[in-house]
Amino acid sequence: MYNYVKGIYFAKKRRNNKMANELVTWSDDFLVHNAAIDEQHKSLVKMANEFYANCQKGGILARVYFFETIKGTLRYVKTHFSTEEDIMKKANYPEYEEHKKQHEDFIIHVQEQISNFEKQINPDSAGFVKILTDWILQHIAASDKDYIPYIAKLNV
Ligand SMILES: [Fe+2]
Repeated sequence: MYNYVKGIYFAKKRRNNKMANELVTWSDDFLVHNAAIDEQHKSLVKMANEFYANCQKGGILARVYFFETIKGTLRYVKTHFSTEEDIMKKANYPEYEEHKKQHEDFIIHVQEQISNFEKQINPDSAGFVKILTDWILQHIAASDKDYIPYIAKLNV
């Protein structure tokens, strides 16, 4: 619970300190000290910023960009989740099932949102990217922090 509150704080702080045109700025506060996971988290931040910048343009171009990009982004998120899950499993992380469930719920929620968006003529894609990014940041800064002591022993 403490990490969850701290996570929201970090996510908000990141958002407030962002550079011009950036949705979120990477911070070493997000590090989980595993090379593979940290690399993927950094890529997610980069992807979120690019995604957001292009969706902010609005209109038909933003709509086309959104649908071209969202599926690839989701694929990357899924790959990232399985990397994390493999590592958590190897580390015998006791909260593995609960953490995996958070990942699965997130994917289901995003897929539902995408199908809702497909029915809309002018969806608020930038708003959606913002919500998606907030979830990911809070997850990285809170839930992901909890497995650090367990995966630290692995050295993978
Ligand atoms: Fe996670």
